Amino acid sequence: METSPLPKPKYLKEDGLSKECETLLSTLPTKSGWTIALYNYQGHWHYARQLQGVLSCQKHFQALHNDILLVTIPKSGTTWLKAILFSLLNRTRFHPTQDDHPLLSNNPHMLVPFLERWLYMEEENPDLSSFASPRLFASHLPYASLPKSVQDSKCKIVYLCRNPKDIFISLWAFTNKLRLQEMGTNSIEEVFDKFCEGVTLYGPFWDHMLGYWRESLKIREKNYFLTYEEMKEQPDLHLRKLADFLGCPFSPQEEKENMVGAILEICSFKMMSNLKVNKEGKLSYSEVNNNTFFRNGEVGDWKNYLTTEMVERLDKICEEKCDGSGLKF
Ligand code: PPS
Repeated sequence: METSPLPKPKYLKEDGLSKECETLLSTLPTKSGWTIALYNYQGHWHYARQLQGVLSCQKHFQALHNDILLVTIPKSGTTWLKAILFSLLNRTRFHPTQDDHPLLSNNPHMLVPFLERWLYMEEENPDLSSFASPRLFASHLPYASLPKSVQDSKCKIVYLCRNPKDIFISLWAFTNKLRLQEMGTNSIEEVFDKFCEGVTLYGPFWDHMLGYWRESLKIREKNYFLTYEEMKEQPDLHLRKLADFLGCPFSPQEEKENMVGAILEICSFKMMSNLKVNKEGKLSYSEVNNNTFFRNGEVGDWKNYLTTEMVERLDKICEEKCDGSGLKF
């Protein structure tokens, strides 16, 4: 008996696009991606459906002066920072030690929505009026592609950066999990070349990072630049700094009760990766398995995979691209 093929998960779909998006796509440079085709729009690489979200979000999203936007390039620690920011901003409503804390039954991606990859991908102009204030959103968009209202308003941007070598390994492992069996796996050499050429989701990574780095030097009270490595090394210090930046510093009473420790505990890799929801669930908007967002959560895992030549090539790219900027890896 013939069996019909299983329907593709949403994250591999490339159809159902608006006329506007299809017309634009036909004019854009395109390359084969790590899973599906990538299109270059405003100097960065996007999937087709995601591009539709980018266009809608650029057209319709109206930032409020007290919005908070977390921005990353994929695999920089987005899931972790979403959990941290959600717990930090909602600590009065949901104490991080309470048994029914939303993070215990929801993946952080469901609590802090992506603008262009969820809200504006699903709907042209979603109604955001039910979001509690201050609204917390996330995006992978490069600075130059952010909706104009984000750039013009006083809303705050937290940018999380990570060593590109760890981003690369994390992305290689992640995209291989997203590929269906019949697609086979990507060899590390094949995708390494793409990464070095800047052909990666939202890449080139150097332009993405430098865009936010430069903004953080220009307007410090609006743009906060943080690295995954700093956060791993001194989480207490950086959580307090984040709270100060966002205008919600820890009170002496909270310090006495170890609120900082409680937030870091509920957001820890060990805690989050062992939750049922993160072991078994899927994101409703993309159908990506929640467990793919948790691999090992360490700094420097690239040492286990990259050859000396690969390291030299990537280091050279970083040095050249970041030269004179003050940003170092
Ligand atoms: S995504 O798809 O862009 O949202 O992925 P992102 O969350 O940015 O990156 C996934 C990497 O973050 C690690 N991770 C964590 N590190 C520390 N603490 C916590 N709680 C945590 N949760 C996820 C995850 O393991 C991926 O890194 P690698 O190096 O692949 O382990």
